[in-house]
Amino acid sequence: MKSETVAVHGGYDTEPTTKAVAVPIYQTVAYEFDSADHGAALFNLEADGYRYTRINNPTVAVLERRVAALEGGLAALCVSSGQAALNYAVLNLAEIGSNIVSVPQLYGTTYTLFAHILPSQGLAVRFAESDRPEAIEKLIDDKTRAIFCESVGNPAGNICDFEALAAVGARHGVPLIVDNTVATPLLVRPIDYGADIVVHSLTKFLGGHGTTLGGAIIDSGRFPWKEHARRFAMFNEPDASYHGLVYTEHFGAAAYIARCRSVYQRTTGAVLAPISAFLLLQGIETVALRVERHVENARRVAEFLRRDRRVAWVNYAGFSDNPYHALARKYFGGRACSLLTFGIAGGLEAGKRFYDALKLFKRLVNMGDAKSLACHPASTTHRQMSALEQEKAGVRPEMIRLSIGIEHIDDILADLDQALAAAQRQCAPLIAAE
Ligand SMILES: Cc1ncc(COP(=O)(O)O)c(C=O)c1O
Repeated sequence: MKSETVAVHGGYDTEPTTKAVAVPIYQTVAYEFDSADHGAALFNLEADGYRYTRINNPTVAVLERRVAALEGGLAALCVSSGQAALNYAVLNLAEIGSNIVSVPQLYGTTYTLFAHILPSQGLAVRFAESDRPEAIEKLIDDKTRAIFCESVGNPAGNICDFEALAAVGARHGVPLIVDNTVATPLLVRPIDYGADIVVHSLTKFLGGHGTTLGGAIIDSGRFPWKEHARRFAMFNEPDASYHGLVYTEHFGAAAYIARCRSVYQRTTGAVLAPISAFLLLQGIETVALRVERHVENARRVAEFLRRDRRVAWVNYAGFSDNPYHALARKYFGGRACSLLTFGIAGGLEAGKRFYDALKLFKRLVNMGDAKSLACHPASTTHRQMSALEQEKAGVRPEMIRLSIGIEHIDDILADLDQALAAAQRQCAPLIAAE
């Protein structure tokens, strides 16, 4: 099935007892056992079924099957937020004394997780100088457990060369983890290009309406954990926390997600509520249509801003002179995503006046909503970074990040136009001098 169809139907066959066509919300904590033996079989992972919603839930399971199918993966685990997904995705394959190697262009809180939180737990994150495969490869050693990148960096807008990064990983026996939040599987499926694990903040384009937090970890099922048994002992040796289970033996290709669920989700509990899974599924039903409109509106906005002499620069991979244009063509079929950044003439102060004058665009820290949104990363999402760290992450002081919504393009452009005019009114000498 094509992605547009998977988004509507994936992972759900009409529920057999009631014939409910919409996915039912199973708002239950626990599930009754037929007998002591049935309960034991469930706990031994010998029988399929549900035990307790911290481990799995039928509504969440539909979402898991749907996102796995959308990304072309084998299995998925859905959790309470994108950050929880990132945390589990890394912890599940690393241990004290090991490291992961990351591109420098990251969402601000992911950077904080990698630069401060994981190291405080004994797991090092090595930031490469750039997103180039050779910069990543230089940092890999026998303690490396994963390569990490965002398909499209938020807010840097860089596009990672998944095929090349996956080849580096394969050479060293290290999986590639891709955060595909910004691009969505409608623009690219990193697994098709060799990625091993994909992570999502479902909060953004997939949910699509700014109502519900959620995260997903999707396993391609392709990484050969058994071949690299010394590097990944956690999948290949008996797990003392689960009465000696060996994940690769019990779950085969699904070992990674199974361990993530039974070790991290079960014991640390970043659970996605069934009602949230339902709301996210509702959003996903229309994601293909929305992404089409997001992408087309963003193209019109980028062109409008670039033509405007009140704007100093626009970073949009859809422009043929953008350094990432070739990768946008290769991976996204030329459709640049709807997150773009620009700098207004007049620098930081003019940028603030522009931001304050917006009327239709919402001033906030979110993206991927049906509504058009604007953010000033240096003062918000990336505020915890030093100036140098911001620069490496692709954040400039005056930079405004726009997440272009699905409203009528005329209304979007009119709002940008009036905000540019408002910013310019108090900066007349700058424009007059031109
Ligand atoms: C690329 C990216 N990954 C992960 C996250 C974290 O997602 P959540 O807010 O659902 O925890 C975000 C949030 O903005 C993001 O932009």
